[in-house]
Amino acid sequence: MLHTTPGLIDAIRARFAHVDTCPFQGPRVFFENAGGALTLKSVVETSARFAAIPDNQGRDNVASHALIDIINTAKADLSVFMNAPTGQFFAGESGTELLFRMIRTACVNAPKGSKVIGSSIEHPASRSAARRWADIAGLDYVEVPHNDDTGLVTADAYRAAMTPDVSVATILHASPVTGMGMDVAAIAKVIRSVSPDCFIIVDGIQHAAHGQVDIDSYGVDGYAISPYKVFSRHGYGIAWISGRLTALPHDQLIDAPADGWEFGTRDTGSYAAMSDVVGYFDWLGAQVSEVSDRRARIEAAGRAIHTYETHLTNAMINGTGNLPGLRDMDHVHILAGADNPAREGLVSIVVRDVPSAEVVSRLNEQGIRTHIRKADHYSGNVLNPLGLSDCIRISLCHYNTEQEVAQLLAAVNEMAP
Ligand SMILES: Cc1ncc(COP(=O)(O)O)c(C=O)c1O
Repeated sequence: MLHTTPGLIDAIRARFAHVDTCPFQGPRVFFENAGGALTLKSVVETSARFAAIPDNQGRDNVASHALIDIINTAKADLSVFMNAPTGQFFAGESGTELLFRMIRTACVNAPKGSKVIGSSIEHPASRSAARRWADIAGLDYVEVPHNDDTGLVTADAYRAAMTPDVSVATILHASPVTGMGMDVAAIAKVIRSVSPDCFIIVDGIQHAAHGQVDIDSYGVDGYAISPYKVFSRHGYGIAWISGRLTALPHDQLIDAPADGWEFGTRDTGSYAAMSDVVGYFDWLGAQVSEVSDRRARIEAAGRAIHTYETHLTNAMINGTGNLPGLRDMDHVHILAGADNPAREGLVSIVVRDVPSAEVVSRLNEQGIRTHIRKADHYSGNVLNPLGLSDCIRISLCHYNTEQEVAQLLAAVNEMAP
């Protein structure tokens, strides 16, 4: 495990900016990773370097050729990182914008009278896009209910709602409210077994930082991530699309190459920053395995991240040292079950008799950053069926430590009535 290799957690933390100090607040523990993970120092340096370059792509000069090479290298890096040997990667405004673009394209090209399927567990990015564009394209929208107790939607739940006339499907990889990861490959397989040509689009935004993206094994057509949630920076999103989705008529300039999905001039630095992210996973894989193949190292990093994050969430739930875990605190309720094997680095709780906003602010006063999720248009789909107006989201990444978990437990324990 990451923390059993001497010095490794320190070496990991040294690669990130603002690990234990907020430039606005001072010392702080960062448990708001689902809102935006820490940024790699290499990404900060790369972004500054490229921000100073005036040149554009598509010119016949040395700088322009270099920029194109850097973008192509980043796309090749992404295809190893996400195991996508076919199809293409492109950048957009944000993960949300890319989900809208992919879903819109699939819907407006779908046969009239066909259906769009998605689940109530999804973030509004994909749910809103699917409902809006189903409506505009004259398609029926079918909602697959998630399980309130587990915070998950299963392949069986999709199976029960699937019909051969479903032409577009959306899947959430991991929930930013419950923290649970879905079995994307199993869900996609069920969809294809009933409607083989269905266009399947996945929201991987919350999942990506927890490692183990393996697009080739999913059998899907689109996958979106938000780079600032996977150790890069704000300002763009990255999508992968299959050859089939690439070929659908889509928004683009008249007479532009048919397979182009990018809009306008690209930010080369944003692509170069993704190469930094891939380089980081590669480095981490080399610390935890002996394998020489790059993809194998990235997979080893993903497994190590998942194992260590589970160790941390288990410590949070079951206790560490002589501190009781969240499950042992009578005033704390854990969403989606204390022993949920689908958990990906996130624990959402409510504290009895203390409003969630107050919990978040009392933790902030002690330098512990968490976030409230409200039953609004972002999280109401998960919280309303549970009869909750809000909850506190504690989200971690593999650079967090057991000591930080202990700080959180001590602070929450003190909130007992
Ligand atoms: C699962 C999921 N989908 C979509 C989004 C929206 O991402 P962005 O704001 O980066 O477009 C988020 C952000 O929290 C998310 O967690």
